[in-house]
Amino acid sequence: MAGTSSKPPVQKKTNELYRESARKKDVRTTNIEAAKAVADAVRTSLGPRGMDKMVASPNGEVIITNDGATILQKMTVTQPAAKMLVELSKSQDVVAGDGTTSVVVICGALLKKAQELLDKGVHPTVISDSFNKAAQKACEVLESVAIPVDLEDREALLKAATTSLSSKVVSQYSSLLSPMAVDAVLKVIDPERPNLLDLNDIRVITKAGGTVDDSEMVDGIVFDQKAAKAAGGPGRMENAKIGLIQFCISPPKSDLENNVIVSDYTQMDRVYKEERNYILGIVKKIKASGCNVLLIQKSILRDAVTDLALHYLAKAKIMVVRDIERSEIEFISKTLNCLPIAHVDHMKPEKLGTAELVEEVEVGKGRVVKVTGIVSKGRTTTVLLRGSNKLVLEEADRSLHDALCVIRCLVNKRFLITGGSSPETEIFYQLSQWSKTLMGMESYCVRAFAEALEVVPYTLSENAGLNPIQMVTELRKLHAQGQKYAGINVKKGCITNMLEENVVQPLLVTTSAITLATETVRMIMKIDDIVPTR
Ligand SMILES: Nc1ncnc2c1ncn2[C@@H]1O[C@H](COP(=O)(O)OP(=O)(O)OP(=O)(O)O)[C@@H](O)[C@H]1O
Ligand SMILES: [Mg+2]
Repeated sequence: MAGTSSKPPVQKKTNELYRESARKKDVRTTNIEAAKAVADAVRTSLGPRGMDKMVASPNGEVIITNDGATILQKMTVTQPAAKMLVELSKSQDVVAGDGTTSVVVICGALLKKAQELLDKGVHPTVISDSFNKAAQKACEVLESVAIPVDLEDREALLKAATTSLSSKVVSQYSSLLSPMAVDAVLKVIDPERPNLLDLNDIRVITKAGGTVDDSEMVDGIVFDQKAAKAAGGPGRMENAKIGLIQFCISPPKSDLENNVIVSDYTQMDRVYKEERNYILGIVKKIKASGCNVLLIQKSILRDAVTDLALHYLAKAKIMVVRDIERSEIEFISKTLNCLPIAHVDHMKPEKLGTAELVEEVEVGKGRVVKVTGIVSKGRTTTVLLRGSNKLVLEEADRSLHDALCVIRCLVNKRFLITGGSSPETEIFYQLSQWSKTLMGMESYCVRAFAEALEVVPYTLSENAGLNPIQMVTELRKLHAQGQKYAGINVKKGCITNMLEENVVQPLLVTTSAITLATETVRMIMKIDDIVPTR
């Protein structure tokens, strides 16, 4: 009682109110600062002259990459708002595949502008709504400068793939990798339903040894493993009849852990005989179906194939590739035009795939099994990527993925825009004109949004060692004069027409980057407290 009367309730209330609003401001500021720090971390890797990152994990594994999504994914981030930026670049990776650095850099710049607006006393909801409007308008601007592209136009697709590869560690191989990406996508595309393109139909196998130049596209399928030849089975098979099996060729196990005690040799012989007969029965059924190449799925219950089984299969002159992953089954059955077989009784000739040649070949430091000349092959492609070491190989794989995604974007939305920060500057120009027609705070926020996008030309020129302020001012001037394709030519260090330089990128990459970045900023704006849970 004495305690409550000592503090006047009115004063306590005002104190609490004051503290509460201060906390909200604090939470927002901390979130923005943390997210901006993440954006700054990847900023230097934007563009063809951007730096690469070496990511070292505690177990000693090292990767070298320029891919924004990969850098952020490997980064140890604990702050919740900073994590949102990591998720943002992941979303961009899923939606567009490329532009994962740009999206984070744009988001960081928008947050910086938002913080300035907050400091001036603009309400977060007003900022959030105006940014939303500005982002929609920005997408309209992009659509107005976009150039339609036809999928028949191989040259245009090649240019887009080359632009995406130009900022990668393996950019010197872009003359080989871009045609590969374009051809791979064009091969798997179904002309009747082009929008149902699935990149899972393109299988990329990486094999160390040789250089990226030795990479090839295989008209068939490649298995990353050797043929199982321990028991003397064949390593090459012409006129192959290929069976893809999901059952095990090994003695069955009981469900429970139990022991069978064998006390004398005659009993032991019987056990062996039973096992032999059981396996021999399976092998005979396989042979009877006409199958001469067997692909065996991995089993988690027991050995998918035992040494004894391999021995009998070798005697029956059946080539064996074991350890096929469950996840590969769909791709393999689609490519080989065969059906996976779940039980030996279902081994029927009509379920087998047919190919001219199945052969184990030496590639670099290892061996792979290649299947070529597949009869009525499905719409899939296999790319065999090569590289002198793991670092190059993995980065080549990631870069090829970006290039494939760029082509996929063009299939989904057939428009190209120019690169080299020309779209961002055009948005800046159009939005700042538009902001003049708006009233009040909204006009102010739209102008801030437009200025935030200039982070792209600023960063591109900064990374290329150019004078950013000079470049940005000149770009502004040219766009105001109506040169909507003017962009920064980082190679020559001046401003040129990006269309003539062949620096083009899919419209979808930039629109999705701007939309996703704005969404994240709006989300961060609307958070006023962090509630920890146990
Ligand atoms: N030859 C070029 N000249 C000028 N600018 C270029 C050129 N090639 C690409 N760019 C620009 O570089 C930016 C892309 O850089 P980068 O590929 O490093 O990042 P990203 O595509 O955002 O992310 P990531 O490729 O890591 O997913 C785009 O703004 C693009 O317009
Ligand atoms: Mg890129």
